[in-house]
Amino acid sequence: MIVGELRLITLDQVSKSFDGGNTFAVNKLSLQILPGELFVLLGSSGCGKSTTMKMINRLIEPTSGRIEVNGQNVLDQDPVNLKRSIGYVFQGIGLFPHMTIEENVGIVLKLLGFDKAKRYERSKELLDMVSLPLETYGKRFPKELSGGQQQRVGVARALAADPDILLMDEPFGALDALTRDDLQQEILHLKHTLNKTIVFVTHDLFEALALGDRIAIMHAGQLEQVGTKEEVLQNPATDFVKDLFEKPAKQLAAFQEIQQELQEGLGE
Ligand SMILES: Nc1ncnc2c1ncn2[C@@H]1O[C@H](COP(=O)(O)OP(=O)(O)OP(=O)(O)O)[C@@H](O)[C@H]1O
Ligand SMILES: [Mg+2]
Repeated sequence: MIVGELRLITLDQVSKSFDGGNTFAVNKLSLQILPGELFVLLGSSGCGKSTTMKMINRLIEPTSGRIEVNGQNVLDQDPVNLKRSIGYVFQGIGLFPHMTIEENVGIVLKLLGFDKAKRYERSKELLDMVSLPLETYGKRFPKELSGGQQQRVGVARALAADPDILLMDEPFGALDALTRDDLQQEILHLKHTLNKTIVFVTHDLFEALALGDRIAIMHAGQLEQVGTKEEVLQNPATDFVKDLFEKPAKQLAAFQEIQQELQEGLGE
């Protein structure tokens, strides 16, 4: 196997400091993301997930280290083309509030030079894909949609230019559990039907386990472990990873203890 040809995104000893080298938001991070995989970056708030994502498409430049996309150093690629070739679903909603849903999806297509008729056709196709028919939702403004619907528009917009790579930064962070489940299923469906490579950021353990072909666990700017769910659950590489995955079991035990106490209380 020629591994080199299979890597779609490579981070090699990538670091980012925002304060001239006193502290590092990302610290010597090395990762390889393979074509067609759904790669999850998991970690708590402030551990460097968004910074890592933004360095992949050059929204942020690394302080040191090397990033390759499609076998080529991102520094040697035209930043505008690079950004257009990578779909980005931003953390938070990130839709333009003064544009309609149709315009929000079509803006990328406009930048790509699609004429009005083609923009309409493609926007319709994209909005159908995320179950928001253009006839019903196209002329509405973002504030006239629920949070989950707005997130779907964000996904449609990121897919507009048919990118091979989709970066999704906590796309469902603010949603309730049921809506989240639905959208997770949609992402898995999109991944299988459209054959995209997806880098998905979350701080939710269960979301990571539900979605990730592989999961990278980050802590304080560094990588603790990367592996399949079997690998990280069965062979945690560090105490941090072990504690992380033991937490739900501890919470369950605490919950059961409370239930037990209540039952005993009722029985008296
Ligand atoms: N533009 C910036 N200027 C200065 N510091 C920054 C900047 N962006 C991020 N940081 C700092 O870098 C660290 C990592 O931030 P980052 O946004 O990557 O975290 P995150 O893992 O995405 O967190 P969250 O889950 O809360 O979104 C944090 O300490 C943050 O305060
Ligand atoms: Mg973030």
